[in-house]
Amino acid sequence: MGQDACMEPCGGMVGTFRCKMYLLLLGVCSGLKVTVPSYTVHGVRGQALYLPVHYGFHTPASDIQIIWLFEKPHTMPKYLLGSVNESVVPDLEYQYKFTMMPPNASLLINPLQFTDEGSYIVKVNVQGNGTLSASQRVQVTVDDPVTKPVVWIHPASGAVEYVGNMTLTCRVEGGTRLVHQWLKDGRPVHTSSTYSFSPQNNTLHVAPVTKDDIGNFSCLVRNPVSEMESDVVTPVIYYGPYGLQVNSDKGLKVGEVFTVDLGEAILFDCSADSYPPNTYSWIQRADNATHVIKHGPRLEVASENMAWKTTDYMCRAYNNITGRRDETRFTVIVTSVGLEKFAQRGKSLSPLASITGISLFFIISMCLLFLWRKYQPCKVIKQNLEGRPQTEYRKTQTFSGHEDAQDDFGIYEFVAFPDASGVPRVPSRSVPASAGVSGQDVHSTIYEVIRHIPAQQDLPE
Ligand SMILES: *[C@@H]1O[C@H](CO)[C@@H](O)[C@H](O)[C@H]1NC(C)=O
Ligand SMILES: *[C@@H]1O[C@H](CO)[C@@H](O)[C@H](O)[C@H]1NC(C)=O
Ligand SMILES: *[C@@H]1O[C@H](CO)[C@@H](O)[C@H](O)[C@H]1NC(C)=O
Ligand SMILES: *[C@@H]1O[C@H](CO)[C@@H](O)[C@H](O)[C@H]1NC(C)=O
Ligand SMILES: *[C@@H]1O[C@H](CO)[C@@H](O)[C@H](O)[C@H]1NC(C)=O
Ligand SMILES: *[C@@H]1O[C@H](CO)[C@@H](O)[C@H](O)[C@H]1NC(C)=O
Ligand SMILES: *[C@@H]1O[C@H](CO)[C@@H](O)[C@H](O)[C@H]1NC(C)=O
Ligand SMILES: *[C@@H]1O[C@H](CO)[C@@H](O)[C@H](O)[C@H]1NC(C)=O
Repeated sequence: MGQDACMEPCGGMVGTFRCKMYLLLLGVCSGLKVTVPSYTVHGVRGQALYLPVHYGFHTPASDIQIIWLFEKPHTMPKYLLGSVNESVVPDLEYQYKFTMMPPNASLLINPLQFTDEGSYIVKVNVQGNGTLSASQRVQVTVDDPVTKPVVWIHPASGAVEYVGNMTLTCRVEGGTRLVHQWLKDGRPVHTSSTYSFSPQNNTLHVAPVTKDDIGNFSCLVRNPVSEMESDVVTPVIYYGPYGLQVNSDKGLKVGEVFTVDLGEAILFDCSADSYPPNTYSWIQRADNATHVIKHGPRLEVASENMAWKTTDYMCRAYNNITGRRDETRFTVIVTSVGLEKFAQRGKSLSPLASITGISLFFIISMCLLFLWRKYQPCKVIKQNLEGRPQTEYRKTQTFSGHEDAQDDFGIYEFVAFPDASGVPRVPSRSVPASAGVSGQDVHSTIYEVIRHIPAQQDLPE
């Protein structure tokens, strides 16, 4: 029976080399098998540690002997305790520390101390028809659990982006064999062009800091018996201003040009991302001279009596810690009542239609101006345009589109050509990408719109 059980692991391969090796490694052919669930056991100092051992054999036995030895590197193995059948014979030096309940071969170490770290060897002898013997070795480590780490930031007052450096230090009161890891927003931090670690990884150095370093940093400390994470810390990093832009509560914004109805007050809001918050100032630019008209993030421009008045403004954002500033220019055009409503209606159409409509409005207005000055019909301009040689048209950019709006029925041709004079600007970015044409410099371009009412041609629907 014993022999059968011994051969069992080999299946049908009895006698093969592989089988012999297998049996040899397990010690199965001796008929006695000693196993431990884990070859390494991590214990906590001051607590009890249990080293489980299982053994089995298939022969009738008269005596079962169990011996525990302890071995440290470079020292003699020490006898801890032993048993025959159910009687235990401890080493008197350690009798209160090690316990065994034969025939259970498992060992209890209580309390565990740092000096108990090392190899524990268990040997089982079974006396029957001859003597069977087998042993196992278990490595024991002893550690103090990690206490909660605390992260310190230097400088605590914060650092200026691209100028200052920052050092995060992880401090742990208790624990042995500590392994430090840094997390930012819960994800591990790796060495990079700006991040470096101390040899033990307990400090993280950031040089220089950037806006991207704003986040929740924490320090995760592990050892074989425990792990703890610090509270998150968020470094103070001064940056900006970035992304400066001006918006208004009403009126129509096309690029950097705001159009507002005559008689209406318009409130402008200037914003940029920065820390600490920017200080804002508003500057009016007139006749090559600038003067600050207001401080603060908002500017109210009261209604003007004069239509077609064009005023250039500038919003300046300044971060008094980083010392950096940014400014953006914009133009306010006061139009006569109705343009905005026209534009509102235009919003239900495509952007091209509304731009075309507004441009058309500009052209008509300019024609009227021209008419008023020269007593000449508007047609002249149109004829001039049509009279231009084809080559000139090719040099310029031509935008055209068709909208199925009943009132505006027709084909509009949106023509841009360079011009040196400073006629009202319609920024090129307002042309939608779908037109397939990117615009040119706004300061030297005139846009004109020509409306064709198709007579003979078939229109695509
Ligand atoms: C161990 O137990 C067996 C039977 O269970 C017995 O024959 C043997 O004498 C015992 N040995 C000792 C040392 O007590
Ligand atoms: C040995 O004793 C422990 C309790 O001290 C028990 O948990 C374990 O199951 C026992 N092992 C065997 C093989 O009986
Ligand atoms: C003891 O072993 C010998 C040879 O090893 C064998 O001949 C004998 O039958 C065995 N006795 C028992 C009781 O297993
Ligand atoms: C930041 O660190 C860099 C490189 O480590 C160093 O050259 C620089 O002087 C440090 N700046 C400050 C403000 O400490
Ligand atoms: C950082 O932690 C705070 C709460 O402690 C949380 O509100 C914020 O969303 C976190 N930021 C990130 C980037 O996870
Ligand atoms: C420090 O951390 C890096 C990555 O975060 C890791 O590759 C390295 O092994 C760690 N060093 C120590 C001593 O823990
Ligand atoms: C604006 O002022 C600068 C000098 O401050 C001068 O060179 C330039 O000609 C002026 N431009 C106009 C249009 O007055
Ligand atoms: C910087 O500006 C803030 C307002 O955004 C102000 O409270 C603070 O006193 C200023 N600091 C310095 C040093 O000027």
